[in-house]
Amino acid sequence: MKNLLGLLTSILLANTIIFNYGYAQGTHNNSVAENTSAIDLELSDLIKRHKLTGRPTPATPIPDINSPIAQLGMKLFYSKSLGGDKNTACASCHHPMLGGGDNLSLSIGVAADKPNALGANRQTTDFKHTQVPRNAPTTFNIAFWKKHLFHDGRIQRLENNEITTPDMQFPKSDLLAGDSLVQAQARFPITSAEEMRGEYLSASLNQTLRRALAKRLQENWLEEFRKGFNDPTATAEELITEQNYSEAIAAYEKTQVLIDNPWKDYIQGDKNAISKDAKKGAKLFFTSQNNGGAGCANCHSGDFFTNEKMYNVAMPQIGLGKNSGKTGSNDYGKELTTKNPKDRFKFRTPSLLNVEMTGPWGHSGAYTSLEAVTEHMLSPNKSAENYDQSQLTQKNIKLDDVKNNTLEAVKHGVHIQVKSHATKDDVKYLVSFLKSLTDPCTKDRKCMSKWIPNADMNDPDGMMLHAVDAGTGKPL
Ligand code: HEC
Ligand code: HEC
Repeated sequence: MKNLLGLLTSILLANTIIFNYGYAQGTHNNSVAENTSAIDLELSDLIKRHKLTGRPTPATPIPDINSPIAQLGMKLFYSKSLGGDKNTACASCHHPMLGGGDNLSLSIGVAADKPNALGANRQTTDFKHTQVPRNAPTTFNIAFWKKHLFHDGRIQRLENNEITTPDMQFPKSDLLAGDSLVQAQARFPITSAEEMRGEYLSASLNQTLRRALAKRLQENWLEEFRKGFNDPTATAEELITEQNYSEAIAAYEKTQVLIDNPWKDYIQGDKNAISKDAKKGAKLFFTSQNNGGAGCANCHSGDFFTNEKMYNVAMPQIGLGKNSGKTGSNDYGKELTTKNPKDRFKFRTPSLLNVEMTGPWGHSGAYTSLEAVTEHMLSPNKSAENYDQSQLTQKNIKLDDVKNNTLEAVKHGVHIQVKSHATKDDVKYLVSFLKSLTDPCTKDRKCMSKWIPNADMNDPDGMMLHAVDAGTGKPL
């Protein structure tokens, strides 16, 4: 195989020389084709070495969006009935037209000035309620995570295949977690005061709250649950349980598979699917630093672009944080769960599929452009030290401790080799490659409509979120 490649490369080189001659004669058009094939050959080698197919494998079976259980899950995902004070739904921070997130640096839940107004202009002036300390990750492709959910991986699949959650002392299994990481996760946003719960049953245990919400749904949702679980005679008490509503929400979320992107088409043989800049970016991304690349695939590996491991990459720390460090506004990440100081500042390697659509970036949304976050990943220390907070557009974010908090992470030791000679062009090429990971469906309201309830859908208790863009007021 190697020999064949070598042979092909020499033929190519020979052609390039002939071409160069030709260029002087004015046959410019051929040049593109020739140069493109040289890099195509290198990429084909990298694709083989990294065993890429363009198709990540899911960690859990994926239901059809038109199945009764996913349809029930969609209604629950958009229902403010699961918000303790009835003003917030899952979709308030994970909307399909906002890249499966909220387009904010830091999410705004129960404290929103206008609960139905979503997107980058969603605002809060309510300082009585605490604000959300982290950026909302996308729900797109959630079924592909095998090991960790949340930025700090606190929902985790253990060696024995059971799941641990924040309800347990780490690393004990949570026997109520359900079958999948997605279901295990869906049981937590409703318990968070700042995300969905508000002041409702604020002194009660998580499980008490979950059961109270089930009781609330039992009043109006029996027909919906009978359809969803295909059980036409069951009673509300039998069918509307916290296990069943979290299972249905998870079924809906799992259907959000958005993996058809130009990079996949390229891998599968369409050499014109991505631009030349994107090809140069791919080469940098998949080539190790020792061989002159940027080494991104050390961590963002495989077709899902993550090894699901945790690292300190010194992402700037903005906002209220998680009660860590001297300032109290730092975020120690994985250490908060494991209590192991070695895990301080560690966060999960995110997937990069659709990353163009899921900004702002980093666990606290500190970067508001793909260029800036890419520059950070090329030289974390330098970017962290020179972090420019004027890029933030969201109002009312606590910024007093940004410098101290971020430098503490730098001092603690960053787990990334710095690419010493990164150039502006490297950033341009990498961003171009990252954009080739966008499934065009994510930009198309019609294509996304199967994940957004129709306005005329049965709304059992009148609590469905009818989201509008907070800037334009138009329906999302
Ligand atoms: C107020 C905004 C808000 C609401 C409402 C909300 N979330 Fe989230 N979601 C977040 C934030 C912020 C995180 C990251 C938290 C962390 O990592 O500590 C998150 C994380 C997640 C994740 C993990 C994604 C990953 O890649 O690990 C999933 C899945 C998710 N939410 C689903 C839901 C579901 C289901 C609901 C409703 C039951 C919901 N969210 C309600 C803001 C919100
Ligand atoms: C040592 C492992 C590692 C390497 C190498 C690495 N990353 Fe990352 N990357 C991470 C982690 C961990 C995060 C999340 C950090 C956080 O939020 O605190 C991240 C975040 C990102 C994000 C933000 C994603 C989001 O959804 O917020 C982008 C974009 C990114 N990396 C691109 C790159 C590029 C491009 C390279 C190569 C130049 C690279 N990374 C190299 C581990 C790595």
